[in-house]
Parts: sequence; C-alpha cells; structure tokens
Amino acid sequence: MSEPTQSTKFGEEPESPQRRKVLGWLVGVINLLVVGAVIGPVLGFMGGPLARRRESPQWIPVMDESDLPDGSVREVKYAVRVQDGYRIANHEYVVYLKRNGSEVIALDPTCTHLGCRVKYQEEKSRFFCPCHGGVFDAEGKVVSGPPPRALDRHSAKFEGGKVWVKREA
Ligand code: FES
Repeated sequence: MSEPTQSTKFGEEPESPQRRKVLGWLVGVINLLVVGAVIGPVLGFMGGPLARRRESPQWIPVMDESDLPDGSVREVKYAVRVQDGYRIANHEYVVYLKRNGSEVIALDPTCTHLGCRVKYQEEKSRFFCPCHGGVFDAEGKVVSGPPPRALDRHSAKFEGGKVWVKREA
C-alpha cells in the first residue's frame, strides 16, 4: 500500500525541500536583522557612557600666570567635571605650583609614605607631612623622614596668561 501524499491545488507544484530550506534561511536572516535593529541602539545607549569613561585627561586652567611670581609656591584648588559611566561629578583636587622662571611644576600634595596630605611652609621652603614627620623641599624632593620618594608631579605649563595643569591619574 502506498503512503498518502500531500494534496495540492490544481496547477500548483508541490513545495520542494530545497525551497523550504531557502525560505527557512530567509526567515532566519530577517529575524536577525529585526533583533539587531532593536538591540543595537539599546546597546549603544547603554554602552556609550561606559566607553566615554576612558577619555584622556584634559588641560585645566587653574590660575593666572601673574599670580605666581618667580620662585614662589602656591596651593591651588580646582575642580574637574568627570563623566564616570552614567554619573557626572565634579572631582576636586589640590596641587602645589612652583614657578622656576618660565617653567612651572605641579606637585601632588599626597605624601609618598602613606598618603597623608603635606602642607607647605613658605618661611621654611619645605613641605611637611603631619603624620610621620616626612619633609620635602620646595621641588618635592625628600629631605627627611620615612617617605620613599619625591612628591608626585603632574604636567603643568604656562599658556595664554594662565597656568594649566593636566592630571594623569
Ligand atoms: S604619611 Fe607622610 S610621612 Fe608617613
């Protein structure tokens, strides 16, 4: 006895397995395009702020050049607007600027021993750490005490009548 065959309308050819396969692939490709059109913008929206987090540091004008006489050391507070993922915050920093003629150096006030904040005493031309007695000279080099190395420096320059600082970390 022969197996029942699929009935077809008059004049219509039966669907071949190859045609079904091609249609299946076509439906799969269309589904992928639709899913990509929906998910792509969502991923871009969510991932954009995270990608911007790795922006390189910017030069920030922190004071007028005329307010930093030759040989002087000045403490400067400044804020940097930082986008950290989805959050935008103002990070506040302190830096000591020292002018040597046409050059300027920017010293980080964080003691290199255990991270206390050093304070500059103009009359002694020294930075003193209140925690364990570390002492640094006006260029940030260790004079005495436990600090293992000089104060960290940030990039600094004069430009357009301003003092600019770029904070690497
Ligand atoms: S933290 Fe400055 S000397 Fe220890």
